[in-house]
Amino acid sequence: MTSPFTVEVLVSDTDRLRAAEQDVRRGLAERPRSIPPVWFYDETGSLLFDRITRLPEYYLTRCERAILEARSEEIAAASGADTLVEIGSGTSEKTLLLLDAMADRGSLRHIVLLDISEEILRKAAAELQARYRVEVHAVVGDLRRDLVRLPRPGRQLWAFLGSTIGNFEPASRAELLAQFRRAMGPGDTFLLGTDLRKATDRLLAAYDDAEGVTARFNLNVLEVLDATLGADFDPGRFEHRAVWNPDGGWIEMRLRSKEDQQVKVAALDMVIHLARGEEILTEISTKFQPDAVPAELGRAGLGVRGAWSDDDGDFLLTLAAP
Ligand code: TRP
Repeated sequence: MTSPFTVEVLVSDTDRLRAAEQDVRRGLAERPRSIPPVWFYDETGSLLFDRITRLPEYYLTRCERAILEARSEEIAAASGADTLVEIGSGTSEKTLLLLDAMADRGSLRHIVLLDISEEILRKAAAELQARYRVEVHAVVGDLRRDLVRLPRPGRQLWAFLGSTIGNFEPASRAELLAQFRRAMGPGDTFLLGTDLRKATDRLLAAYDDAEGVTARFNLNVLEVLDATLGADFDPGRFEHRAVWNPDGGWIEMRLRSKEDQQVKVAALDMVIHLARGEEILTEISTKFQPDAVPAELGRAGLGVRGAWSDDDGDFLLTLAAP
């Protein structure tokens, strides 16, 4: 039987505009100036990110995939789930491993995907539906707000991969994990991907690759703001920087103004003055100490059921339950 796939859009253009206005008004007025990472992911940004995942320097995706290749069966069995809920699903490429494992057990019934990029999500949903012939429910939304609005068929395995959790600073991370916990039912499980501490040069290379894809990805946020808010950021007047922050334990992605400049944001009737060398923080990517992960999950009311690393101990997948 062929089931349909549905796409539900929880963020309207008006929502998007309001959110961008708020984020820019707050983030660019503060010191240090910052822009929240959600604005990376228009279609161009999502495609650039997909290229990042295949860069030689970007070990995260390869390590996470290696763990999934070795452990998906075990994870699927331990979860007992018939529904996969993937948050920040992107192209859902690695998810195939989990889905295959669930399908092999004969337990796959539904797939729920949440992502901010509608174009990528539609493509992923259509491909997954064609491959597994189960009900696919794709939701265009903001994971900071929309976890509780997801449809909840069956017994769910919630997958939050790619170390996206590390893109939130500690307080928001705790809040987000608590939101996952609240959105989950009693028999559900949560699979979390986290990148681990390692030598700084490898970390810096992963966020500042030789080909310059990450630089383009970072600069693309300016084009998204130009398109969304009628701003006149010129990406050519900024440069990409990746910096290790030892106190926070995270990589910072920044955009540095190459010159003194004024940027107009039409929708906000705002002019931003940037001095030469001034930087805007666009993303953090936290690198966890292995024992921090169960501790943070525990504080959110999630107990660890299993944890797996790759051979080199670069990346960690943790399965937890309420
Ligand atoms: N979750 C990814 C990470 O932290 C996101 C990411 C990868 C990213 N490369 C980036 C975000 C470059 C901003 C800039 O690794």
